[in-house]
Amino acid sequence: MKESAKNSYGVSYDKLLKLMTDKGVKNCQLRDAIGLSKSTMAKLGRNGQVALSVLLAICEYLGCDFGDIVEAVPASKPAPYYTAYEKRYKKVYAAGAALWGHPPDDETLLKALSKWVDDNGLRGKRIIEFACGEGSCGIILSKLGCIYHGVDIAPSAVKKAKTVLAGHPYAAVTQLDMVNERPAGEYDAALDVMGFHMLVTDCDRQKYLKNVHASLRDGAPALFFRESYRADAYEGVVGSFDEWKQISGCDYDTPEEREVMGSGIKVSIPLVPARARTKDGYINEMAAAGFIVDDFVEMDINMQCPYSASVYAHKTKSCSH
Ligand SMILES: C[S@@+](CC[C@H](N)C(=O)[O-])C[C@H]1O[C@@H](n2cnc3c(N)ncnc32)[C@H](O)[C@@H]1O
Repeated sequence: MKESAKNSYGVSYDKLLKLMTDKGVKNCQLRDAIGLSKSTMAKLGRNGQVALSVLLAICEYLGCDFGDIVEAVPASKPAPYYTAYEKRYKKVYAAGAALWGHPPDDETLLKALSKWVDDNGLRGKRIIEFACGEGSCGIILSKLGCIYHGVDIAPSAVKKAKTVLAGHPYAAVTQLDMVNERPAGEYDAALDVMGFHMLVTDCDRQKYLKNVHASLRDGAPALFFRESYRADAYEGVVGSFDEWKQISGCDYDTPEEREVMGSGIKVSIPLVPARARTKDGYINEMAAAGFIVDDFVEMDINMQCPYSASVYAHKTKSCSH
């Protein structure tokens, strides 16, 4: 085969992941047993090509054949960096946890949403939640009497959200990429809980805010809750995810072992990118997208996102860009 020939098929180690989960084998056990390097583990984590000798050693360790751990799959366009959450939801559910994100009884969230709904007269009004995850805010807002529409890019989270909201007739959930797709219709308010900070490039953030803006009626409130915040955050332009990896110095390809919140279940999960901002950074970014920031609340240090802030804003005018 010519060096330059491009394969229209790639490899997938999804079967290996499942086999390891079924057998209760952790990444570190596999790595230590076979003596795999950090970079080989990273390649396995991102469906990269590894030597046949590595696959043979894995087969020997797990007592299986090639077809049990690796598949040839049609190569597709690489997924954007912000789809990393799907992998995380899958791993967490495979480990037996019922929920990864905010639970619907999170005291701080409950209190803040109740106040926001009351302050803005949102009972009986249409609220869109971007990056809704597993639908916990949908439960809270439905109980408060709002008409709820949640959107998220991760299919596993959407499935979970649909299940938990099945008993609420005025709640709906759909899969949507909030960066590249715009929800149909006009809403009375928009909510985002730890979703905005998932977008690291300036371009993606602007596209997203433009979509939030376009989905709202004039003057409508928008709440960005528990977004990553640091007084000393990097405020230069981030052009690509690769650039962000260098700036943040974070090795996103190496899974880390973490406890699923309050469950006692430990699972090795992929890191997901997030970008912190300063207070001025958030305010300027919102203003450029046609929002006025009414309040900027620094949150107490918390488990979900240690250093975070909530940004209370409203739409001022129709977006000109
Ligand atoms: C930190 S989780 C927060 C989930 C939920 N709001 C909560 O608090 O439990 C971030 C969520 O953003 C979603 N997300 C990231 N990028 C997205 C995009 N472009 N469009 C829609 N959802 C996105 C992820 O799938 C994930 O569910």
